[in-house]
Amino acid sequence: MTQDELKTLVGQAALQYVKAGSIVGVGTGSTVNKFIDALAGMKGQIAGAVSSSLASTERLQALGIKVFDATEVDELDVYIDGADEIDHAGFMIKGGGAALTREKIVAAQSRQFICIADESKLVQTLGKFPVPVEVIPMAARRIARQFAVLGGTATLRLKGAQPLVTDNGQHILDVTGLTISDPLGFETQVNQWPGVVTVGVFALQKAHVCLLGAPGGVKTLVF
Ligand code: 5RP
Repeated sequence: MTQDELKTLVGQAALQYVKAGSIVGVGTGSTVNKFIDALAGMKGQIAGAVSSSLASTERLQALGIKVFDATEVDELDVYIDGADEIDHAGFMIKGGGAALTREKIVAAQSRQFICIADESKLVQTLGKFPVPVEVIPMAARRIARQFAVLGGTATLRLKGAQPLVTDNGQHILDVTGLTISDPLGFETQVNQWPGVVTVGVFALQKAHVCLLGAPGGVKTLVF
């Protein structure tokens, strides 16, 4: 099976977590796009979605799924999203698609985080994938130096020749060279640095379940 087929498989499998009549938290990325496409098949049975990015909002709306603003809803049953890395405890690196801040917000608003990923995303220890960090632009240089103290190398993410600008009007640093053996401690530490909007380590908002696409079918990991 190709990686794309594995993504389709887990995108469809995630439908089992969607309750009739509910508003669904929807993440961002190529795997979530498969979930959105599958969700369109049951759009008559759900109230709608809260989206974690402008890109997902556009896709949901194009398929006729109503998108609520996060401020219109108290709590969501489930949040369904992909990951760049996930470990055996459900801790993740996210933000490869630059949507990490809104992803963490919608995840925090949801009772259950269902991660959907192909099996290449499962790791023993987080850190091989560069850790995305959304920052206030004027703090980027200082935050990069703080990562250097931890042994990391921070690079400003570009779109073409210009810094990439997130849905929130901020920049992204991608940090390589880190081995994150204590995701919760790492997230807590980096969260305290002035100018950090969101660090792409999801330990406080970790996954409760991961649907992992493998050639033999979907494996369900429960954390
Ligand atoms: C976007 C994300 C995505 O969930 C992550 O990058 C995985 O994406 P994909 O499903 O395309 O591999 O965090 O900010």
